[in-house]
Amino acid sequence: MTDALAENPAQTDLPPGAPLGTALALGGFLLGGALEQKIGDALVKRFGPLLTAKVPSLGTVVFVMDPAHIRSMVSAPSGSLVSGRGNAILGFLYGRTSMFLVDGAPHHRLRRLLVPPFRNKDTLAQYGQVMEEVANELLDEMPLGRPFALLPALRHGMLEIILRVVFGVEEEARLAPFRAAFTELLDISTAASTSVRFALRGIVSLKKWQRLQDTLRVSDGLIYSEIARRRNDPETETRDDILALLLRTRTEDGDLLSDVEIRDQLVTLLIAGHETTATTLAWAFERVLRTPSALARLQAELEAGGHEYADAVVSETLRLRPPIPVFSREVAGDFTLGGYKLPKGTMLVGNIGYIHQREDLYEGPQAFRPERFLGRRHELGVYAPFGGGLHSCIGNHFAALEVRVFLQVMLKRGQFVVPRKAAERIQRQTILNLPARGARVILRGRSPDHVYPGRADSKA
Ligand code: HEM
Repeated sequence: MTDALAENPAQTDLPPGAPLGTALALGGFLLGGALEQKIGDALVKRFGPLLTAKVPSLGTVVFVMDPAHIRSMVSAPSGSLVSGRGNAILGFLYGRTSMFLVDGAPHHRLRRLLVPPFRNKDTLAQYGQVMEEVANELLDEMPLGRPFALLPALRHGMLEIILRVVFGVEEEARLAPFRAAFTELLDISTAASTSVRFALRGIVSLKKWQRLQDTLRVSDGLIYSEIARRRNDPETETRDDILALLLRTRTEDGDLLSDVEIRDQLVTLLIAGHETTATTLAWAFERVLRTPSALARLQAELEAGGHEYADAVVSETLRLRPPIPVFSREVAGDFTLGGYKLPKGTMLVGNIGYIHQREDLYEGPQAFRPERFLGRRHELGVYAPFGGGLHSCIGNHFAALEVRVFLQVMLKRGQFVVPRKAAERIQRQTILNLPARGARVILRGRSPDHVYPGRADSKA
């Protein structure tokens, strides 16, 4: 590995790759799971940790398969790498001003605005209370005594949290239309057909996709009327939801953000924060319920109080089953990686899913062992489920809290078992790693009393 990491003296423009390498890299990616890992190992052995592939609709792609190069990728100076085409796949949903799609000063401004509420201890504590309430409500609605897939229920729970925390919608009558419209929008964002349509966009105009147009018309209509309503609501000055914050904010020139800018950030947060978190939580249940030692230790902690082990469960889930196993950048200026001065327009894909299971970086990488995260942090690049650098996930603390709170509430009140001992396969859907059967469980019983693990007077 050291040799492969050494600077390449030839200074060629692109790292090695070959039609066979491309076919294997893409085939492995589509397959996911243990076979993908084996293919990844073989490719690294043959080509080194940087592999060039030509991908239809994305062009020249360099797969980055080792921590050192991931670190170079995320610490690249502003302007040399941009978010680029990888994020543009869902650009028609996010909107042109989405923080996913912009770079430089406009991106920096949006991050300065949005990062604090998602990382500040006090706002997180308030959002945590909403999460506890939703987790309790969700558990109350789950069927008893028969197998069911957790993932759809968890998606519903995550949407509920975003509606309350991001959009600030709380009254039942107003929640219903949002739920319906956003469920459809989120379906489109994860549907396999969406990336196919993106790939064919030169041939088939996305504007002619009727389902997309209908969905956007309804959801944008709701969002814009909510923005108008809230602009005239005196409570907007004092509320803590993200929409209120965006409405109060002024740009450096003293202007308010435009309706379009606000709409684009709201949709970005909705899509970025929904399926990722629901999938992580589904995997956490899938793994914990099949790892008796982890379940016992988690339950003991629930009795005693504290959340150190629960946090380690979240981290280990994100290592072993990162919901999005890749993140990307596009070369926009001078950028050298591993000695290769990459041409502008090259897309870099950080293969986190592969790195998280490399045997030389993790002992027994296939095993679910939360203990590896107890009292220690793993170096950036070795562990990077939230990407890194200028475009790193702004919802990382929020998401980790969400997963932990749901695990705590549901395992404290509910007795869950799995209908089958065999692990659920990873199903690759676009760039998501889903549990193939949706994390099926049986809820044997549940205590009627709601629990609030984060409240000072609660023991859980
Ligand atoms: C377990 C759940 C989550 C995972 C695994 C995850 C993962 C990621 C990853 C890999 C990226 C790309 C980072 C990069 O390119 O360096 C990202 C970006 C982003 N995520 Fe998350 N995410 C999660 C939850 C959330 C939540 C809950 C929110 C907010 C509600 C959120 C908002 C965002 C935003 C806005 C970006 C774009 C940041 C930028 O481009 O500056 N994510 N996320």
